[in-house]
Amino acid sequence: MAPPFSRRDFLLAGACALSVPRLWARPHFLDYPFSLGVASGAPRPDGVVLWTRLAPDPLNGGGLPPAAIELRWEVARDEGFRDIVRRGLVVAEASEAHSVHVEVAGLDPARWYWYRFMAADAVSPLGRTRTAPATGSMPARLRLAFASCQHYEQGYYAAHRHLAAEDLDLVLFLGDYIYESSWGRNLVRRHEAAEPATLAQYRNRYARYKSDADLQRSHAAFPWIVTWDDHEVDNDYANDRSEDLDPDFLARRAAAYQAYWEHMPLRRTARPDGPRMQLYGRHDFGGLVQFHVLDGRQYRDHQVCEKHGRGGANLVDDAICSGRRDAGRSLLGAAQEAWLDRGLAASTARWNVVAQQTLMAQLDRRIGNGQQFWTDGWDGYPAARERLLGALAAHRTANPLVIGGDVHYACVADLRRDFDDPKSSVVATEFCGTSITSQGPPQARLDAQRAENPHLRFAHSEKRGYTLLELSVERCLAQLRVIDSEKAADAGISTLAAFVVHDGRPGAETA
Ligand SMILES: [Fe+2]
Repeated sequence: MAPPFSRRDFLLAGACALSVPRLWARPHFLDYPFSLGVASGAPRPDGVVLWTRLAPDPLNGGGLPPAAIELRWEVARDEGFRDIVRRGLVVAEASEAHSVHVEVAGLDPARWYWYRFMAADAVSPLGRTRTAPATGSMPARLRLAFASCQHYEQGYYAAHRHLAAEDLDLVLFLGDYIYESSWGRNLVRRHEAAEPATLAQYRNRYARYKSDADLQRSHAAFPWIVTWDDHEVDNDYANDRSEDLDPDFLARRAAAYQAYWEHMPLRRTARPDGPRMQLYGRHDFGGLVQFHVLDGRQYRDHQVCEKHGRGGANLVDDAICSGRRDAGRSLLGAAQEAWLDRGLAASTARWNVVAQQTLMAQLDRRIGNGQQFWTDGWDGYPAARERLLGALAAHRTANPLVIGGDVHYACVADLRRDFDDPKSSVVATEFCGTSITSQGPPQARLDAQRAENPHLRFAHSEKRGYTLLELSVERCLAQLRVIDSEKAADAGISTLAAFVVHDGRPGAETA
């Protein structure tokens, strides 16, 4: 078969061949190039980021020549694109897998917009997005969903189909967007490739996930704010160290970060520089909510008391692993900790949502005498957790909520200054979401652990889904939305439980 493009198809745009991209001037695609859908993210009062990637052959590197391709984009006030308010051109570079990140500005606050891309005669699916409320305004409410952990092989994305139909302003995704490895029981579909290590392999893994129609619906319905956990790179990695102590791990991390950037609706400030990528940041919703979005992977100290000859996590006895409590240990790294502390001190928002990867509450896993902890989460960094909770108390940060994922069960917790003292004050409320698909631990184990950890108000591992938060001046309502089964693409949705947090009173109550 003849290649879909020839040298003749390319031309040099402009006079200086060194400084301008070599454009494929009249692209013709063998297949639909918007196979991975569209997305928007990082909303501000005056704009959002619009994302797409041209990939007519998504699972095999994209299927495009190594040349730049020009796209057109449009933003309208209506779904029919009669009232177009912004439009422009953007060049998709081969070096970025023909992805684009358009930072649209000049929009009105707190309103819906529709957007689309065009390349040659192909038109993308429509996306809908929403700008943040005006700075200084006090919105009556903010509704969002947060989700995490969507192992492709372990289930269908029925949760995303239902999420896309909710009445929301925003989605927060808190990590494990992809999984690098295959595991689990009763798999419903396959990755069809081995564990990725190179940029080409990570790109194909993102394409595998993003080719799912329900995930595309969820992106096309709302702006997303994203952070990552370990599986976007490798299980249990910590900073520059992988679980298997790979000597080339930073090269692998650089490949994984680049592919993450190429597939997420992120601002240019997040564009990676080798193995470094600025992902943590703050997002405001008028005076109602400030989101402090954290990166708990890139800067952390290595896990302590590792298994012999290994990196990664371990289950350790508190009596044996004294290094766990070292005051200098950090999950966020010094710069991010200082940035977070400054933000928690300066915030004037009614609610402060710390959006991060994993369970923040202490979880003693030893049933009976003594304590046992998992070293990959905040329990591996207790001094850092004490600093964070201490900062919330010292700065009197208004209405702190911590949201997370990673553990694959729904959990509601009181975050206390001293988890071992049930009379210690509650500083913040934690809602840790279940997973979109990834398998959770046995409920019986959680029930036993809850008896040992009274600050865990609720823990349920048997259902997959997402969490809705509705925030108003007076209260935060959290609804745990779960699907009947992740093994059925057409599964229904229901509310498993609901909790409320009142203004000025940390700790969740049953709604
Ligand atoms: Fe996960």
